[in-house]
Amino acid sequence: MAKQTFGSKAGLIAATVGSAVGLGNIWRFPAEVQANGGGAFLLVYILCVFLLGVPVMMGEFALGRGGRGDTISVYRRLAPGKPWWLTGVLGLLASYTILSFYLVVAGWTLEYLVSSVTGDLYATIPGDAPGSSAQFAHRMAEYVATPVKPVVFTILLIVINAVVLLGGVQKGIEKMSNLLMPVLFLLLILFCCVSLSLPEAGEGVTFFLKPDFSKITPGVCIDALGQAFFSLSLGMGTLVTYSSYFPKDTRLGRTAVTVSALDLLVALMMGIVIFPAVMSFGLANESFEGATLVFVTLPEVFMQMPGTQAWSILFFLLLLIAAVTSTISLAEVAVAFAADRYFKGNRRKSLLLVLLPLLIVSPLCSLSNGVLSHVTIFGQTLFNFLDTFSTNILLPLVGLTMCIYLGWFAPRGFLEEELTNRGAIRSLWPRVAMVLLRYVAPLLILLIFISRFA
Ligand code: TRP
Repeated sequence: MAKQTFGSKAGLIAATVGSAVGLGNIWRFPAEVQANGGGAFLLVYILCVFLLGVPVMMGEFALGRGGRGDTISVYRRLAPGKPWWLTGVLGLLASYTILSFYLVVAGWTLEYLVSSVTGDLYATIPGDAPGSSAQFAHRMAEYVATPVKPVVFTILLIVINAVVLLGGVQKGIEKMSNLLMPVLFLLLILFCCVSLSLPEAGEGVTFFLKPDFSKITPGVCIDALGQAFFSLSLGMGTLVTYSSYFPKDTRLGRTAVTVSALDLLVALMMGIVIFPAVMSFGLANESFEGATLVFVTLPEVFMQMPGTQAWSILFFLLLLIAAVTSTISLAEVAVAFAADRYFKGNRRKSLLLVLLPLLIVSPLCSLSNGVLSHVTIFGQTLFNFLDTFSTNILLPLVGLTMCIYLGWFAPRGFLEEELTNRGAIRSLWPRVAMVLLRYVAPLLILLIFISRFA
């Protein structure tokens, strides 16, 4: 079967940005900024995106397009008989693990969208002051722990994934991204405008953008590194898989810079949305930790604004778009692998193999927040275990081995050939990327890794 490719440059960028832009940009990033002292974190984060993110992304693109295959077969093709393919196996494991709980969270966003439409989200709970953070905190705690509804929404998300992935690369993934990514950016622009017109906007923007250099500590740097890695979807085989659909003439260096910059832009825009809003409504001292920013603090903001329901609907739509495009790319890693390896390219069968187990694992993940919370793995609920295992261990491990492979063991000139399209374009990237991949990225990733255990 002819290898599938994306149909256009815009489509390929929309799809890759769709993968990278996710809940990590929308709620994890502002939470990290808040926890790490504002502008100082932002500055370090920007450095991390360009020093770590861009070169690793180029490396993944080179692997995917040069190796023409899924995360595992690229290593088999480029390094036959060597154990590097195990990196691919870990990547597949990482993406599948993240997918299994990311679907649950994506399900919450869909439920919040639905209950914004019905108005149920803003109905008062007896005993709580209407519109208070207690009201929304109680609602969220109760909701994620109920047995049925979150499971139903999780399954709905699996169905959405199935429908899009069944369409294949061009008619499924690319078409969806071309439709949804512009909507996401329009919504973000709208929210930025609204937030900047609030009374205390200046104060919020200052907190976010003005670095206080005394706040830059090793801890802040490590958090920024980890966030950059997560936000750019590195180390999971997703970028390798998507780039195997890049046509031969795609400029990988430029594409990696564009995708990383757009991902950064979304994070920046979210900062511009969040900080003025929380300052203006007196919520700056609430902790954004976990999912509270989006499910507790923001509903409080909307409650105080005219047009509560409309804003709430638009925001949860934005969140849902960000989440869905990420789940699709996570699932595609496994779908591409199984289709290539076991089903002669038949995506339908491969989809069944990939999605059916999720119909069991993801609901279990959801239930582990409630009725199954007493079942623990290494002292954690299933949901938290899968989260920490994949992001703290698998992600850096895959990133590290991939950089070592590309920097030190890949066929001579491989990276250069891919980044220059076999000499067709002149580019400084191969040399710069090689140095970063050889020395800088592995060290930085090692730092993240060690710090997680220190
Ligand atoms: N980048 C995604 C976010 O910001 C999360 C993520 C990490 C991801 N790795 C991924 C998404 C791989 C898709 C594929 O939320």
